[in-house]
Amino acid sequence: MNHFSKTVMITGGAGFIGSHVVRLFVNKYPSYLIVNADALTYAGNLENLKDIEHAPNYRFEKSDITNEKDIADLFSQYSFDAVIHLAAESHVDRSIIDPLAFVKTNVMGTAVLLNACRKFWKKDITNKLFYHVSTDEVYGSLGEEGFFTEETAYDPRSPYSASKAASDHFVMAYYHTYDLPVVISNCSNNYGSHHFPEKLIPLMINNIINNKPLPVYGKGENVRDWLWVEDHARAIDVIFHQGKTGEKYNIGGFNEWKNIDLVHLMCEIMDKKLNRSPGISAALITYVKDRAGHDLRYAIDAGKLTKELGWKPSLQFEEGLEKTIDWYLQNHNWVKHVTSGDYQNYYTEQYAKR
Ligand code: NAD
Ligand code: TYD
Repeated sequence: MNHFSKTVMITGGAGFIGSHVVRLFVNKYPSYLIVNADALTYAGNLENLKDIEHAPNYRFEKSDITNEKDIADLFSQYSFDAVIHLAAESHVDRSIIDPLAFVKTNVMGTAVLLNACRKFWKKDITNKLFYHVSTDEVYGSLGEEGFFTEETAYDPRSPYSASKAASDHFVMAYYHTYDLPVVISNCSNNYGSHHFPEKLIPLMINNIINNKPLPVYGKGENVRDWLWVEDHARAIDVIFHQGKTGEKYNIGGFNEWKNIDLVHLMCEIMDKKLNRSPGISAALITYVKDRAGHDLRYAIDAGKLTKELGWKPSLQFEEGLEKTIDWYLQNHNWVKHVTSGDYQNYYTEQYAKR
């Protein structure tokens, strides 16, 4: 027993979204003990949490969610009341290179966690919750019109989205079969600080700063719905506390952008910030071979979350994008650290042959 009112395991808390969720919960709920369980893969970085690492209600545990013994040991040690599960392999391009790594972490890892909850919560399930953080990519690809709702049939098309869809199915299977209290949210593309520079927005910012080519896949006409990462963390907070067990909630930015328009907008903002003449950054745009099976458009209808739980995005996109760019301009060292070593190998492998 400890003196905290709740003990919450957050998996993947050293990653991009996870670090924002951990920070929000540690600061907002001093009566909760927050245990960040993360294997520290290439995408996990404890520098993301420097500001809260000594908080009295925070613990870090280096552990791999695919390792049953690691997870059982943590459950024995902490007697968790809830799990917020974000740990995953999260990059579509990497899933095309190494799909089995995604099956292992995203499917097997989720099943290991669910099974630990089933076993450790068997005696007393009151006030327990397994919160699974998922993606809108499970719904597949939209044409020019329409939105994903919670009722849209799953139609994943990349190894990444297939592994996330499988993990969502396992979560619901544990709900129906074992009465495990679960909730799932499916969110659109996030952007903000501490975003690993293999994803579109931070990769483009980093390349613009370094005068490197800006690799736009295909014709740049694919559409994504972008949400400020801190608004995603706020949505997770709301759903964790008020969401209905066994339900799914879509989270989105109501903010669709064609990739090429977004890259042009970033170039314009960065020309100003870097005192470059207009057009200098945009001259770096280079069209490269398209991604295999590239989903055309994602767009989320987050109406259920807004109507039932009162959440909506707090920031206008242009404001969030400027804040994000400023963060990268002010945090060279973070970028330097995360892009040293393995990142260089990945980058060469991924872009040299396009
Ligand atoms: P990320 O790649 O930045 O971070 C993933 C974290 O998980 C890292 O800290 C990594 O070390 C950890 N991890 C990986 N394998 C692990 C393992 N076997 N055991 C323990 N920890 C492990 O990912 P992100 O972008 O922050 O995404 C977090 C979650 O949100 C994922 O589940 C992802 O599918 C989902 N999601 C992401 C987005 C997005 O736009 N990035 C949108 C919707 C949903
Ligand atoms: P990404 O950030 O990888 O997210 P996701 O594929 O999960 O939506 O990519 C966002 C969009 O940007 C997607 O349509 C692919 C495209 N893209 C590029 O054009 N160039 C790049 O170098 C990257 C990483 C992505």
